[in-house]
Amino acid sequence: ANSLKGKHLLSLLELSTDEITQLIDVAIGLKKMQKQGEPHHYLKGKTMAMIFEKSSTRTRVSFEVGMNQLGGHALFLSRDDIQLGRGETVPDTAKVLSRYVDGIMIRAYEHTAVEELAANSSVPVINALTDDHHPCQALADLMTLYEVKGTFAGRKLAYVGDGNNVAHSLMIACAKLGVDCSVASPEGYEPKKEITELAMDIAKETGAVIEVLHDPHAAVSGADAVYTDVWTSMGWEEEQEIRLQAFQPYQVNSELMSSAKSDAIFLHCLPAKRGEEVTAEVIDGPQSYVFDEAENRLHVQKALMVALMG
Ligand code: CP
Ligand code: NVA
Repeated sequence: ANSLKGKHLLSLLELSTDEITQLIDVAIGLKKMQKQGEPHHYLKGKTMAMIFEKSSTRTRVSFEVGMNQLGGHALFLSRDDIQLGRGETVPDTAKVLSRYVDGIMIRAYEHTAVEELAANSSVPVINALTDDHHPCQALADLMTLYEVKGTFAGRKLAYVGDGNNVAHSLMIACAKLGVDCSVASPEGYEPKKEITELAMDIAKETGAVIEVLHDPHAAVSGADAVYTDVWTSMGWEEEQEIRLQAFQPYQVNSELMSSAKSDAIFLHCLPAKRGEEVTAEVIDGPQSYVFDEAENRLHVQKALMVALMG
């Protein structure tokens, strides 16, 4: 039974624990098929529109290639190349695209724009990053943790840095999967309170510990995975200088990594800034799985597209 058919994926809040573990299981299967050259055209003849308001390397390429490997077709639509950029409304865009395509992927600034698109779309909508959520990234991240460590229960992920979209989706994913998640952010840059509270509520059911701290060493202590992201996300560029100062003590370097378990892995959604949120020594070192993580975007999004549109 596929409980996700026809649904939207706007955040991981909408997915059950079982749905997340099933997506990861299917992704691991699809990864094997792709490596062995086994055809898997589960979306033959289907088309997905991809709307981008922000830049992208991984998301654009992994969705487009993934759709192609599934026998379907993906359309890259930059916001400024379609009428949306000239003021056509989100509801009209959703209604029109729904008449042509089998699914819509969107990367946008405001999460409410993606919600509005979904509310007016008769085909599944996938959130490919908003200011508040990056669900596809967290699915690939937890898939990577599972592949390397073999289990979720009892694991701990530490997120060090900006309490942003990536941090939000990781907290929710960890809460759902029973993975402890310690976030360490500077004062004033913590994850949003509403999202933190939602993750903490979910964690009560799964037994995970979700905490938001200010001390990076405390957060990293005993962690199986240490995660960071850029200090200045897309859309916050005017704060770059002040952020550079505020985040200095939050750099993931060898010294901070030594507070984690000795076999801890390092994760980063990428793109990264070496010398800022992470040193080259860590991101290019033996504990880093960032390119496996980037690859897993492809596999887990294929699983997601098959579940929603198959
Ligand atoms: N991690 C991620 O979403 O990368 P892009 O911005 O390159 O898509
Ligand atoms: N937090 C980053 C993630 C990029 C994939 C941003 O929103 O720019």
